[in-house]
Amino acid sequence: MAELVVVADEHAAGALVADAIVSLIRRKPDAVLGLATGSTPLATYRALATRIGDDAIDVRGVRGFALDEYVGLPAGHPESYRAVITREVVEPLGLTPELVRVPNGDPVTVEHAGADYEAAITAAGGVDLQILGIGRTGHIGFNEPGSSLASLTRVKTLTAPTRADNARFFESPEDVPMHCITQGIGTILRARHLVLLAFGEAKAQAIAAAVEGPVTASQPGSAVQLHPHTTVIVDEAAASKLENLAYYRHAWDNKPAWQGI
Ligand code: PGA
Repeated sequence: MAELVVVADEHAAGALVADAIVSLIRRKPDAVLGLATGSTPLATYRALATRIGDDAIDVRGVRGFALDEYVGLPAGHPESYRAVITREVVEPLGLTPELVRVPNGDPVTVEHAGADYEAAITAAGGVDLQILGIGRTGHIGFNEPGSSLASLTRVKTLTAPTRADNARFFESPEDVPMHCITQGIGTILRARHLVLLAFGEAKAQAIAAAVEGPVTASQPGSAVQLHPHTTVIVDEAAASKLENLAYYRHAWDNKPAWQGI
């Protein structure tokens, strides 16, 4: 079973995840982080930046792989995930830019960009800790419902709800690209530790399906049930549709102190 932790808010989640990442980097200074975009992980990145500064953690060797990228945005577009990862992660954390990869969404080369990205992750020795958000549709990365549970990095077509959700970042809804390149569910499952974050009522259904529903490509988040080390961190609102919530709280309250997340 995935470990499920209910926290007060995204800042409390950020503190927990920052702890886990700092101890990973102390053990492995060239740790490989899997980086999500969207609003969900922002508080975690801020908490991590603060911890890195306060504890003077040397992160120059830390490597990173983003989950996904839009296809076809002009280079340097402020909402490209390359730009978002630079702005929200690489710069505030002080990572080495050359060590942080984002899938290449240039339509000219996108045909082999998935295979290139898989090769780069493999060459890095795999992802140590993968941060995940979840969409209303249940997507992780941009793996929309129906994505193969064994899929690797490739081009996908975004659903209408996902394009509508992401329209807030663009001038008009039509500006949201139709296609993306995303790590597959199979790629995500190869990471050594998955940390899935969700906050707010709008995510409650997707979280219940991911944690307690059947494992099905129709709910890509449910793939986390196949992983031996998944930590799901949610606030009360996102936890509100879970049937076994009392047990998750009981397990967390009685967790051995040495375990960490
Ligand atoms: P959000 O997106 O963090 O902006 O809610 C999550 C996702 O779509 O994976």
